[in-house]
Amino acid sequence: SAIGASHPMIRAARARGFPVVRRGEVLAEVTRDLRLVAVCGSHGKTTTTALLIAALRAAEFPAGYVLGGLFADETLAPAWVGTNGWVVAEIDESDGTIARFSPALTVVVNLDWDHPDHYRHPRDLEVAFRSLAERTRGPVLISEHCDDSFRVFEGLAPLRFGSSGEFSGERAGETADCTLLSLGGRFRKCAATVRVKGDFNVANTLAALAAAELMGANPVEGALADFPGVWRRQSVLWADDALTVLEDYAHHPAEIRALIGSLRRQVQERTPAGADAGRIVVAFQPHRFSRTAQFKAEFATALALADSVHLLDTYGAGESPMPGGTSAELEGAVRQIAPLLPVHYRPDDRAGFRSGLHRGSRRGDLIAFVGAGDIGEEARLWVEEMQRLLEQERRWDGLARMLQAVVSAETMLTREESLAEKTTMRVGGAARVYAEPANIEDLQAIVRHVVKEAVPVVMLGRGSNVLIPDKGVDAVVISLSHASWQIFEPRPDGRVWVGAGLRLKNLCGLAIKSGLAGFEFLEGIPGNVGGALRMNAGAMGGWMFDVVEEVRLMTRTGEICTLRKSEMHVDYRHCAELTEAVALGALLKPSRASPADDQVIKRQIDTYRDKRHQTQPREPSAGCIFKNPPGNSAGRLIDQAGLKGERIGGAEVSTVHANFIVNRGGASCADVIALVRRIRVRVQESSGVTLEPEVLLYGSEWVREL
Ligand code: EPU
Repeated sequence: SAIGASHPMIRAARARGFPVVRRGEVLAEVTRDLRLVAVCGSHGKTTTTALLIAALRAAEFPAGYVLGGLFADETLAPAWVGTNGWVVAEIDESDGTIARFSPALTVVVNLDWDHPDHYRHPRDLEVAFRSLAERTRGPVLISEHCDDSFRVFEGLAPLRFGSSGEFSGERAGETADCTLLSLGGRFRKCAATVRVKGDFNVANTLAALAAAELMGANPVEGALADFPGVWRRQSVLWADDALTVLEDYAHHPAEIRALIGSLRRQVQERTPAGADAGRIVVAFQPHRFSRTAQFKAEFATALALADSVHLLDTYGAGESPMPGGTSAELEGAVRQIAPLLPVHYRPDDRAGFRSGLHRGSRRGDLIAFVGAGDIGEEARLWVEEMQRLLEQERRWDGLARMLQAVVSAETMLTREESLAEKTTMRVGGAARVYAEPANIEDLQAIVRHVVKEAVPVVMLGRGSNVLIPDKGVDAVVISLSHASWQIFEPRPDGRVWVGAGLRLKNLCGLAIKSGLAGFEFLEGIPGNVGGALRMNAGAMGGWMFDVVEEVRLMTRTGEICTLRKSEMHVDYRHCAELTEAVALGALLKPSRASPADDQVIKRQIDTYRDKRHQTQPREPSAGCIFKNPPGNSAGRLIDQAGLKGERIGGAEVSTVHANFIVNRGGASCADVIALVRRIRVRVQESSGVTLEPEVLLYGSEWVREL
C-alpha cells in the first residue's frame, strides 16, 4: 500500500497486464483455508507476532507464520509455510484489507487512533476492528489495559490479557537482558522469562503466550529467554561505556511515549546511586504527512519527554507533502510545548542532521533513532561516522601525548581547546590539539614531530582575521601567546626587534614610550606581529612591511633563518614566504628615524582611533571580510548592492561598514560563510566584480565553500 501507482515496478506490471494486488489481499487468499491466528491492533503487533512465533517454535508446534517485519536474527526467515493447518499472521489495518480476513483466533494488542489517510474518523477504524472480531470463529483476545478495546468489543465476550483477566501476568524481576514474569489465570505455566524490556513488551508477551495456549501449544517457561527480537525494535546499534545507540520503529505518539518511558527506566536503572542519569537524545523522522498533521500536538508532547530532539524531514511513504505535516511545523509545535528543550532541525540536510547529532551528543547519552521511514540508514551512517570519529580521537590523543613528552613543562598543550574565544569573530569549534610553546626549542620540537606525522599545523595569531569552522580545526594549532614571544627590544641605532607574539597595540604603546614614530597606523589593527607579517596588515595608508627590515622565521621542517625584506615576496594582504613558514619575530625600522614629540604621536594615534570608531563597527567581527579589488573598495561595492543589514542567523553585514560581517550574538561559522556566499553573488550581479575573501578560513579553503 505504501508503493504509489507511479512506482516504476507497478507501472511496468500494469503495462504488461499483470494483476497488482496488495499484501493484505494476497495474505487473505493464501490463508483462507487455514486456521488463521490474526495478530492486529495499533501498537506492537509485529513484536507480538514475533513473540508468538518464537513461543510456538520453542514448543515444537509446527504452525506456519507471516511476520510483518524481520527478526533481528537474520538467519530466521520472516515466513514459513507450516505443517499443522495453523498460520499466525500480522494483520494490517492501515489500508482496509483487514476486511478480507476471517480468523480462527484474533489477538488485538491494543486500539488507538491512527491512519487518518485511510479512515476519515476514529469510528471507521473501530468498525474495521469490530468486524474482524465478529468474523472470528474462535476466541478474541484483548488487552486488560485498553479501554477502547473494552468499548469496541463489547458484547463479543473477549478474553483478556494483562495484570488481571483470563490470562494474567506481571513483571516479577529483571536481568540485564530479560524480564521475568509471573503468570496466573488460565496460563498453565506460572512463570516465563522473556528477552524484552518495557511495560508494553510485558503486555505483548502475555498476548503471545495466551494465544499460544489457546492454539494448543504449551511453551516451556524459558521459551522466550532467547527471543531474538524484531529488527528496528529497540535494536542496539552501538553500546560502549560512553554511548548507547539504538533504533526503533515507533512512529505514533503513543509508541514514542512508551519507548521514551521504557528507555528512561533503563537509563535510570543502570545509573549508580548518586550519579547523574544519562540523557535520552531522540532523533526522529516523522512518518507520513497525514499522520504528522493529524497528531502534531501529540507528537510534540511525546517528544518533549526526551532531553534533546533532532528531526529529519517527514518521510512521505508515498504521500505528497501537505500543510501541517512537515518537520518544520512539528519543530514549531515542540518548541511551543517545551521552550527549553533543545530541538534541532535543518530542512533537507541529512549530513547536517548527522553532524548536528555528533555535536549534540555527549558521554552517557542514549541516542534513539526513531521512525518507520528510512531513518535506519541514517542511524547506520551515523554510527559508522561515530566510529571513525572515535578512531580519530584516539589518534589525536596519541599525538598530544607524544608532543607532551618532547616539550618543556612551561609549554601548554591541550586537546579540544575551544578557539571561538581566541578570535575576534567569536565563532567556530575547537582545535584538535592546541599548543602555546614557551620557547623556540619547544616550537621546533612540535613542528618537527607534527610534520613527521603528516598532520597539518596552523598558526593562530590574535585571531582577528580568521574564521574557525564550526566543526573545529583538524590540525595542531600553535599560538605564540606565551610571554616569551612578546619581546620589544629597541636598539641604539633606532631599530627595534619585536617578537611574533607582541600585540600591535602594545607595539605602538612601547614605541611611544621609546620615542619612536612611524608605527601609529598599527594601533587599530587587532592583531599581533606574527599575524600582521603573514597578512601584510595595513590601515590608514600604512602597511606592516613598510616598517620591516628583516623577518626571522622557522620553516615547516624546523629550520630557523632570517630573510631581508628585499628577499621576500610581499603584496596586498599577503606574504608568500609566511604562508608555510612561521614568523618568529622581526627587525623593524621606523619610517622617521628622529625621535618625534610624544604629543604629536599621541595626537596622530587619536586621529586614527576616532576615524576607525566612526567608520568601523564595534561588534565582534573578523575585520574586513573581502580584499579590496584593484582600484576599488569592497565596502563600497557591497554597500551599493544594498546589502547593509543583510542577515543570516547571527551574522549580519555591518550597517556601519559593509565590508565587515558582525556577529550579532550566537552566529555560527556556517552563518558567516552563507553570508559571504550571498554577498559575492549579489555584488557579482550588481557590479560584475567577484570579491575574494581576505579573512582566512582555518584548516580549510574558501574555494571549497564558495
Ligand atoms: N564605503 C562605502 N560604504 C561602506 C564602507 C565603505 O561606501 O559601507 C566607502 C568609503 O566611503 C570609502 C571607501 O569605501 O570611500 C573605502 O572605505 P574605507 O576608507 O573604510 O577603507 P576600506 O578600503 O574599506 C581599508 C582596509 C581596512 C582598514 C581601512 C582603514 C581592506 C580590505 N580594508 O578599508 O582593513 O582598516 O582601510 O585604513 O584593505 C582589514 O583588513 O581587516 C581592515 C579592516
